[in-house]
Amino acid sequence: MIRLDRVSKTFPGQTTPAVAELSFDIDEGEIVVLVGPSGCGKTTTLKMINRLVEATSGTISVAGTDITSVPAPVLRQGIGYVIQRIGLFPHRTIAENIATVPALLGWEKDRINQRVDELIVLVGLTPEMKTRYPAELSGGQQQRVGVARALAADPPVLLMDEPFGAVDPIVRGRLQEELLDLQRRVHKTIVFVTHDIDEAIKLGDRVAILNVGGILEQYASPAEILRSPANRFVEEFLGEDRSLKRLSLTPISDVDLVAGPIVEPTATRGDVEATMKEHGVDWVGVGTDGRLHGWVWGEDVTGTAGDLEPRPFSVRLSADRSLREALDSVVSSHTGVAIVDDGDRYLGMLSIEEISRHLIE
Ligand SMILES: Nc1ncnc2c1ncn2[C@@H]1O[C@H](COP(=O)(O)OP(=O)(O)OP(=O)(O)O)[C@@H](O)[C@H]1O
Ligand SMILES: [Mg+2]
Repeated sequence: MIRLDRVSKTFPGQTTPAVAELSFDIDEGEIVVLVGPSGCGKTTTLKMINRLVEATSGTISVAGTDITSVPAPVLRQGIGYVIQRIGLFPHRTIAENIATVPALLGWEKDRINQRVDELIVLVGLTPEMKTRYPAELSGGQQQRVGVARALAADPPVLLMDEPFGAVDPIVRGRLQEELLDLQRRVHKTIVFVTHDIDEAIKLGDRVAILNVGGILEQYASPAEILRSPANRFVEEFLGEDRSLKRLSLTPISDVDLVAGPIVEPTATRGDVEATMKEHGVDWVGVGTDGRLHGWVWGEDVTGTAGDLEPRPFSVRLSADRSLREALDSVVSSHTGVAIVDDGDRYLGMLSIEEISRHLIE
C-alpha cells in the first residue's frame, strides 16, 4: 500500500540528512509504527508520505502510484493525518474541526452532519460535545477529535504523529485499546509515530526502529524484534526489560496449563496431604464439576476440604491475557500461581517456573 524506496531528505541549509536512504513497504490494512529518539526523522518521514515535505531523492508510492505524479491536494484526500500535538483549530467547534476535510471537498451539509455524528460515536465521544470548542475538552477527548478529523473523508491511509503523546499513561492505554478496536472495524493502512517503544510493541503489526539521521535499524514484527534485536542500538532502545516485553506478547493460550493441586470438596485430610506432597505446596484448590471455588491452607483441613469456606483467588485470567499479566498475578498471589478460567470453567494454572521457561526460550 505504501512503499518507500531509498528516500532521503536534506533540509535546505543542512549538511546532514534528516532521513537517509530509507526503504520499507507497508501492506494494506497494516499498522506500522515508526519509533526512535527525538529528531530521528519520524515526522519528516510522515510528511514526505503526504508531501507536506518533498523528498530530496528516492521514490514513495501509495497504492502503486508514485506520489509525485498526482497533485498534492488530491493525494492528501486519500491520506488522513493526525498531526503531532493534536493541532485542533481552537476557534472552531468540535463538529467543525471534524468536518474540515469533507467541507474542503464540498460535501453537502446533510452528508457532513451525518458523517460527524457517525465519527463522534466511533471515537467514543458524545454528541453533546459537537458544539463545544477544543479548549472545553480534556486532553484525551481532544486526541479523539484529532483521530475523528483524520478519518472524516474515510481515507484508506492514516498517518498518526504521536497522537497520544500529550495524555497521561492511563488515558493513553485506553486510547491505544480504542485504536486497535477501531482498526478492527475500519481496516486502514496506518503509519503511527511514537518515541515510546512500549506503545510501538502494543500497536504495531510491524515496527520500524529509526536512528538519528533517519537510518532504519530494524523493520520487523514486535515479536521478531524482541526475540532478535538487529544490533546494539535496537537492544538498548528496547531496554533492560526486553524479556518482560516479550511476555506481554505471548498469550496464555500458547502455554500448556496444568491442573495443579486441586481436590474435590469431599477430599479428606489424607487426600489433601497427598495432593500437597505431589505438588510441593502447602495449599490446595477446592473445586468440582469443572469449577474452582477457591483455595484453603492444607493444615486447616481437619474433616474434609469442603468443610471450610474457600478463599477466593484474587485474580483469575482468561486465556487471551498475556504471560506478562499472568506473571503479575503470580507475584501478587498467596498461592504463587496464576489461575486461568473462561469466566466460569476452570482451565488450569500457571506457575512462575512455567512462565520463566518462556522468558528463556
Ligand atoms: N523544516 C526544517 N528545516 C530544517 N531542519 C528540519 C526541519 N524539520 C525538521 N528538521 C530537522 O530534521 C531532523 C528530523 O526532524 P523530525 O521532526 O522528523 O524528527 P522526529 O523524529 O519527528 O522528532 P520528535 O520525536 O522530536 O518529534 C531534526 O534534526 C530536525 O531538526
Ligand atoms: Mg516528530
